[in-house]
Amino acid sequence: MDTVTGFLLFLALTLAALGIAVVSGFEARRKIHIPAVASAVVLLLVTIYFAERLGRQYDLESAGAIYPVHLFFAKTTTPAYLLPILTGIRTLKRPETLVWHKRLAFLVLLLTVITAGTGTAMVFMADKLPS
Ligand code: HEM
Repeated sequence: MDTVTGFLLFLALTLAALGIAVVSGFEARRKIHIPAVASAVVLLLVTIYFAERLGRQYDLESAGAIYPVHLFFAKTTTPAYLLPILTGIRTLKRPETLVWHKRLAFLVLLLTVITAGTGTAMVFMADKLPS
């Protein structure tokens, strides 16, 4: 699959799965919520694969300060997914964890938006390498 198409397709699918995860979480529909989260994580990994392939077509350092900023958010956001996953698993046994699950879920969603935004800006600002 063409790198740009693959990236845009899997980014859209990841956002759709995250949207379903948030709505089903608020509706307490666990049989939808948990598979939606699992799908979002797998789709995110595929999106990261295409993003890295896309990045190899550009001189990312030429984008300037946005490059280390994006790398910082990318390296923080990916492991941060463990926070809602672990608190979500704990909420199944201890419902009082839900308040922390919700806070951390929204923190991760915010980090995801920042990572996607800085990544898109970085690619737009970078010089394309000759192919
Ligand atoms: C990125 C990952 C996740 C996001 C964005 C997310 C988001 C949410 C949101 C917004 C809620 C509603 C909170 C509220 O009603 O105040 C929720 C509830 C919940 N989530 Fe998650 N979640 C994630 C991962 C998980 C995982 C991995 C599990 C378990 C394996 C899980 C289990 C639950 C449970 C049990 C509830 C409570 C449902 C109920 O009230 O019956 N979540 N989640």
